[in-house]
Amino acid sequence: MPPTERPRRLRRTAALRSLVRETSLGPHQLVAPLFVKEGIAEPAPIASLPGHHQHTLESLAKQARQIAERGVRSFLLFAVPARKDPVGSAAWEPDGIAQSGLRALREELGDEAVLIADLCLCGYTDHGHCGVLRDGSVHNDETLDLYARVAAAQAAAGADMVAPSGMMDGQVAAIRTALDDAGHPDVAIMAYAAKYASALYGPFRAAAECDPRVGDRSGYQMDPANVREAVREVDLDLVEGADIVMVKPALAYLDVIAAVRQVATVPVAAFHVSGEYAMVRAASANGWLDGDRVALEHLMSIRRAGADIVVTYDAAEVAERL
Ligand code: PBG
Ligand code: ZN
Repeated sequence: MPPTERPRRLRRTAALRSLVRETSLGPHQLVAPLFVKEGIAEPAPIASLPGHHQHTLESLAKQARQIAERGVRSFLLFAVPARKDPVGSAAWEPDGIAQSGLRALREELGDEAVLIADLCLCGYTDHGHCGVLRDGSVHNDETLDLYARVAAAQAAAGADMVAPSGMMDGQVAAIRTALDDAGHPDVAIMAYAAKYASALYGPFRAAAECDPRVGDRSGYQMDPANVREAVREVDLDLVEGADIVMVKPALAYLDVIAAVRQVATVPVAAFHVSGEYAMVRAASANGWLDGDRVALEHLMSIRRAGADIVVTYDAAEVAERL
């Protein structure tokens, strides 16, 4: 019996396949993470993130320009300060490294770029935790006051959005209030709403120099076993005023992205994190797979799961091939 249904009819040519493709992936949907480090004379390659550097202010602007020329217009900035202390006070200095980085990017790119500032303290504290330590654990409410200061400093330096990544309860509300009080009602919040205590952040922590000295982040980041809790975190962040909600990491949490897509009426972002990038690059360097094609497949899966926006270390290379 010949088949009565023939789905292959629509797979015959590239033109047919593109006509019926359900999911799109374009450079405008990607956000490129960038690192800037205070007090270095030359950009320093990040061994665990091949192709990425800790930048000087000059090389940061140059790199962003090159990426923007490929159609990626959104950037997520991480900064490494020269000085760390128990509360991370360098994070809210008006001329701190993140703020200087934002200004350098704005000067280079003008309004054609969307500048997003990662908002956390772990890169600025000498213990490497995302907030203030009290009796060995991060004190939620004291940390909120500091996040509020950081948000105001980043907004004053020209951020279009701040992206709180510390997973403190109430952080979105505290930051929204701080931004409004400081005269920045138009600065948006991209909330790391469902951020898991993942082993996939390893390469990033080398780049951002933010590994906790003692303990881990499982007292504030989410348990990888939970998905209903992610929906709750998203609901809370939306009530508190998040403009975009993010799930992180991405590939091991595609079900979470899909669940969040069901409940969120704001754009959903997903962070394809450092470990996800590094694994594919390492396998590709060994000749075990075609890293460029795997990257496209992974990013497409993140979009298919429901993410509108994908933060990825592959942004520049993928954009060139799209
Ligand atoms: C810091 C922060 C981390 C990442 C983004 N912001 C690391 C962590 O929480 O330990 C991870 C990014 C990546 O792995 O690419 N709060
Ligand atoms: Zn942090």
